[in-house]
Amino acid sequence: MYQVPRGTSDILPEEQVYWRHIEQKVANICQLYGYERIDSPAFEDTGLFTRSVGEGTDIVEKEMYTFSDKGGNQITLRPEGTAPVCRAYLEHGLHNRPQPVKLYYLASIFRYERPQAGRYRQHYQFGCEVIGDDDPSLDAEVIDMAWQFFRSLNLRHLSLQLNSIGCKQCRPGYLSVLKDYYAKHTKELCPDCKVRIDRNPLRLLDCKQPSCQQVANAAPRSVDYLCPECKTHFNRLKGYLKLLEIPFTLNHRLVRGLDYYTRTVFEIQPEAAGAQSTLVGGGRYDDLIEELGGKPTPAIGFAMGIERIILNLKKQDIHIPPLARPRVFIAHIGAETRDEAIKLASGLRQAGIGSIVATGNKSLKAQLRQANNLGVRYAVIIGEEEVKKSTVSLRDMTTAQQKTVPTSELPGLLIE
Ligand code: HAM
Repeated sequence: MYQVPRGTSDILPEEQVYWRHIEQKVANICQLYGYERIDSPAFEDTGLFTRSVGEGTDIVEKEMYTFSDKGGNQITLRPEGTAPVCRAYLEHGLHNRPQPVKLYYLASIFRYERPQAGRYRQHYQFGCEVIGDDDPSLDAEVIDMAWQFFRSLNLRHLSLQLNSIGCKQCRPGYLSVLKDYYAKHTKELCPDCKVRIDRNPLRLLDCKQPSCQQVANAAPRSVDYLCPECKTHFNRLKGYLKLLEIPFTLNHRLVRGLDYYTRTVFEIQPEAAGAQSTLVGGGRYDDLIEELGGKPTPAIGFAMGIERIILNLKKQDIHIPPLARPRVFIAHIGAETRDEAIKLASGLRQAGIGSIVATGNKSLKAQLRQANNLGVRYAVIIGEEEVKKSTVSLRDMTTAQQKTVPTSELPGLLIE
């Protein structure tokens, strides 16, 4: 027997209620904030991701699903959504539209990770990207949008972690101070971090090994090495967050696992669980569009994992409204009535009334039991006598009351 590949899952009908609910809330919030949807292909040229996410990152080094297709092209299943949106922005000349361009996506993401609760090899992200403006009010707007999105889902007990990691101008100075500090602590570091000192020093700060965490806690903080422009930008962002009454925690160890970030970086996590179950990750990436061949174009965005949101909705026992189901079951007794039932169901559906027709030759009792199991509000019963008189019996399944009505009046009686 085949099974789903490790780290992936089937989303069965009973789970779909969460997915539809979240999709609807995503569409609502994006409309409120003026974001338009974009969909990109599930795979891209590998170079797009190595270039943008960065050679030294876990994603590029260990987690990409990369292969040569039959034409010999190097292809990668998208391991994140920002680079494809930037590629589309450049490819379709979206810089010619009024800036900033505000886009969102719901997309499957592929990462070859070690599967565990909340970590999969295929997951889905809701992501937003605002391209073409560096105003810190947009940083605040993007964070506010993620925050209000969780409020619309009634998710509580979340914590917003915030940092600024500077820009091309000020980051090199900070990195050299950071490297000098770490050079004095190499003995305490895990083998991975020893390599990171030269390859990707920022990532030293978010190592999960206890001994490395101690070193990281006392490390120099990027916010103390920001150039005046980055400092002003960060101060204004913090001012806007206070204005919007969004509580945040400054976390100087927050650096993110993708190389394209500049200035603002942020994450939203469940208060209790910490970084392993981060719901949202995002930040500014002011150099990425240029890196991919465009003009200098600042941008900011975030993405959140849908499966992790669902885990938290369940953990917090949040009620999700059930999905609409057909309200009518059509039972029929006698061979002559089947055609009538099939025709009636089709007519009701065309009038916008969801209907299910009994199949086979079950007894009326069995058919009503089926109607009950399906949870329909009404059963319509068609017998041979009724066919002759162009009537049906209409049974209210909640009260078990039954009456005879003309078939032509059914749609009017059943419409909600
Ligand atoms: P990321 O932090 O790698 O950022 O992923 C965003 C979110 O996707 C995470 O916070 C988490 O909820 C979810 N996620 C990531 N990996 C997995 C996994 N293996 N299984 C389940 N859920 C996962 C990005 O991808 C950036 N593109 C975000 C961004 C957009 N930055 C700017 N714009």
